[in-house]
Amino acid sequence: MGSKKNKILVIEDNVAVQNLYREILVRHAYEVEVQQDTSFAIDLLKKDHFDLIILDLQLPGENGMIFLERLKNLEIEVPPIIVCTGLASVEIAVQAIKKGASDFITKPFTLESLMSAIERNIRINELVKKISGIEVIRSILELNKKLISITDIEQLCTAVIDLVYNLVKPDLALFYFMDDNTGRFFLRRTKGSSTDINFPIVISLSDACLYKKDGSSCRRIDSCCFEVLLLGRKDIIGILRFYSKNRSFDDKELDFLSVFGTQIGIALENAKLLQQLQDSYINSIRFLVNSLEAKDVYTKNHSEQVAYYAVAIGKALGLDGDNLESLRNAAYLHDIGKLGIKDEIISKKTSLSCEEFEIIKKHPLITKEILSPLRIRKEEIEACVYHHERFDGTGYPEGLEGEKIPLLARILAVADALSAMVSERPYRKKMTIEDALQELKENAGQQFDENIVRALMNVIKNSKEKL
Ligand SMILES: [Fe+2]
Repeated sequence: MGSKKNKILVIEDNVAVQNLYREILVRHAYEVEVQQDTSFAIDLLKKDHFDLIILDLQLPGENGMIFLERLKNLEIEVPPIIVCTGLASVEIAVQAIKKGASDFITKPFTLESLMSAIERNIRINELVKKISGIEVIRSILELNKKLISITDIEQLCTAVIDLVYNLVKPDLALFYFMDDNTGRFFLRRTKGSSTDINFPIVISLSDACLYKKDGSSCRRIDSCCFEVLLLGRKDIIGILRFYSKNRSFDDKELDFLSVFGTQIGIALENAKLLQQLQDSYINSIRFLVNSLEAKDVYTKNHSEQVAYYAVAIGKALGLDGDNLESLRNAAYLHDIGKLGIKDEIISKKTSLSCEEFEIIKKHPLITKEILSPLRIRKEEIEACVYHHERFDGTGYPEGLEGEKIPLLARILAVADALSAMVSERPYRKKMTIEDALQELKENAGQQFDENIVRALMNVIKNSKEKL
């Protein structure tokens, strides 16, 4: 509940939603002004004080994103801004935060999510003013901007530990991140010296919740250790812990970190949401790959098989970690561009004419168009785009030669050819694995990279029964 009459400016064009805001906010003891026109909203901001703005991004006149840009250039005090957007556009909301919004809620919102966003943002703003000193405010804003612009969780974890370590300068800083499956916090990053310090590797949620209940997000564990909860929109998303033997931490520092902890929590949550969106996008693409393959009985499970061969070759060549993962993903996605080519050409039962082959040759570039807007590793996209290049430079789409063709693409080329040769096709019988290998060997150095064909031979020699 708003204990004093904080004033909220709602910028929203839908009359039903305007009324909903009015009813909820007045019931929670806020003063409310509603506007649908951003220019009128700016007039209001110039002559009146507001504690918060709730901004709809899709407005009939100037849209919310342009309004945010315009606010940045005005010399008026702007309160925290919560943007309200449709569920499917988390990415847009993150852009809005980069343009100056402090937080976002997704439509349709629940009363709980709306009120928690409002209370959190007003509280942070009050805390920032309390610990003020313009320098402190500036550094919080700058740190926040820096964090918000990172949307990859692993990079964000590293940035968080670096930032707080440089800020607090403890002997040791620890960063724990919530594991959704177990509901516990696992140690993800450390920075500093850990000699003689006993710290847990896992912290239970119930332990962390103990002090969230009394409203604080910072607690002293003992004279040389304190902990900050990183709060997301609803739950605790991570924990920072600091140890310092030779100095204690003052209250101002704890206040500062409790504000900063909320900002970190929101940045982490945004990155997590983006990751989930990304994962569901990739799952949809995999589903499309299955649909593509289902169109043609002869290419059924082709990408699965290409992934199997490619990963086996990759391992034999010493690939691991991200590179092996990228190779596996690229194998699944490599022909996705065929979705952009007419069915009658894709599923043609006889040989292709020259014109038809020219059309088929466009599929790597269509793949690039489909995958480029996604946050997929550059190496993964390149592997897909160049899997029809030939080692002697006569392939497509660019006629790259030798090692100018990315390694993952050269591996895919071999795995793709092997999978095609050992599968039944309408215009020819499937080949035995021995004949297919012989064919690959004969084309090594021209169509394929010799080293990769050799690696495949070794894999097959060592595990014949598996392939
Ligand atoms: Fe292909």
